[in-house]
Amino acid sequence: MAAMNTPTSPRCPFHSGSSSPAPLSGAPGSWPPGPTAGVTGWNLLRRMSRDLFGELSAWQAQFGDVVHLRIWPEHQIVVTDPQLVRELLVTHHDALIRWERGMRVFAQLHGHSVFIAEGEAWKAKRHALQPAFSGKAVEAFVPTIAAATHAALARWPADGGVLPIESALTSLTMDVILRMLFSSEIGDEARVAEEAVRTVSAAANAEFYWPVSAPDWMPWKRHKRQALAALNGLVGRHLQARLQQPDDAWPDDLLTRLLRLHREDGQAWPLQAVRDECMTSFLAGHETAAATLGWWAWCMAAHPQAQATAVEEVRRAFGEHSPAAADLPKLPYLAQTVQETLRLYPTAPLLNSRRSTRPIALGNWHFPAGTMFMLPVLRMHHDARWFPEPLCFQPERFGPAAAEFPRGAYLPFGAGPRVCLGQHLALTEMKVITAMILQRFTLSVPAGMAAPQPCFNVSLRPEQPLVLEVARRGGTASGAG
Ligand code: HEM
Repeated sequence: MAAMNTPTSPRCPFHSGSSSPAPLSGAPGSWPPGPTAGVTGWNLLRRMSRDLFGELSAWQAQFGDVVHLRIWPEHQIVVTDPQLVRELLVTHHDALIRWERGMRVFAQLHGHSVFIAEGEAWKAKRHALQPAFSGKAVEAFVPTIAAATHAALARWPADGGVLPIESALTSLTMDVILRMLFSSEIGDEARVAEEAVRTVSAAANAEFYWPVSAPDWMPWKRHKRQALAALNGLVGRHLQARLQQPDDAWPDDLLTRLLRLHREDGQAWPLQAVRDECMTSFLAGHETAAATLGWWAWCMAAHPQAQATAVEEVRRAFGEHSPAAADLPKLPYLAQTVQETLRLYPTAPLLNSRRSTRPIALGNWHFPAGTMFMLPVLRMHHDARWFPEPLCFQPERFGPAAAEFPRGAYLPFGAGPRVCLGQHLALTEMKVITAMILQRFTLSVPAGMAAPQPCFNVSLRPEQPLVLEVARRGGTASGAG
């Protein structure tokens, strides 16, 4: 953590004349240590685009937990010290906005939802939405999640065999979110939506690396245009269909909760705002959960002993019945397997980069307004100082007897006021789904299969689509319900 000699220029030509406060350590106007940037620093970008986490790891080893990257025109600071990361996200929350370019790319789909908004607009949205996503409120969704899971698992091979589990779990989580949002079961639109989400994610991932996007009417952007239209159409259709119904017939789902906000205050919550939140819940609500469940399935398959322990816990908790909300606290070990999966394979491996809107003090440094902060959660989750043998799957790390780690060292859902709005929903959903999978199936690694390599493409996904062997458990009925 100590500042070391830096090969970057200690005196910044862009900020030396500014009125920013001097750093608490080092010469006035100096920056933390970091790799040699050259004239523009774009060589660092090239290196990062090839192997982001490999480079970040090497720089952390060489320069410490606060690393300066001079990538013209930005000053980027990579922070991997848990306490400083929490300080940024909690204490300095009001002095930070998310990386504007990234947010502009996301806004094409999310509009001005809580995920995109900043400042007072964000605060008002977050405050209004919070109750619908509280721990208590999401308990009401347990039967819905169980019903969707029951239907999906009934379609898994009855005689066992190799299953493309990642796509099976993506269909399942999409079904779950469609039911929770619109009270609608999976149908043909889900297939189209799955493809559309893949297309827009790939387009977004490509656009992040460019300072501006070519307009969407360009001929080569036809697939992206079609995908955007498909997703907008899906949300728009559900919204219009609900508005045709008398409101006393509205089901208790997320759309109804959002439309109540519109009914109470149509100015603060116009229909466009309802549409934007639907889109964010739809996108944020299934992709991350699907990716986590895929990694969890891999971890279970690769660790039969952990799987056996979790199976026994599920059996004791509710036998062959579908889990009810009251059963979920009876599954602490299963919860640990999900927590450890999120440590090893955080589906949001890099939080949205933050930019300071005013000078801030952090650790030994004072940073001027306009500084960018990169928060690589994956790097922190794999830090041997907090997680010995960091690449090993050890659910016991989260058990009652485990050694404590610093609070900011584990951030699968972020931290501070902008912590994931859907974390209770996600954890509840994943607990129900994982319990029901283990109730019915044994997961194992197909002979000769190598461990999947994680690849960062907005979320953390296996480089190759994941397949696993599934075998139905003797005695557990596919009709358990
Ligand atoms: C395993 C599942 C999930 C993971 C790992 C995850 C992770 C995250 C993370 C890390 C953030 C903060 C990003 C940052 O600070 O830059 C975030 C924000 C958010 N997530 Fe999730 N998420 C998950 C599921 C969900 C679900 C199910 C929903 C809703 C249905 C959801 C809705 C949101 C929203 C709306 C935000 C923005 C909150 C704000 O800015 O105030 N997420 N999520």
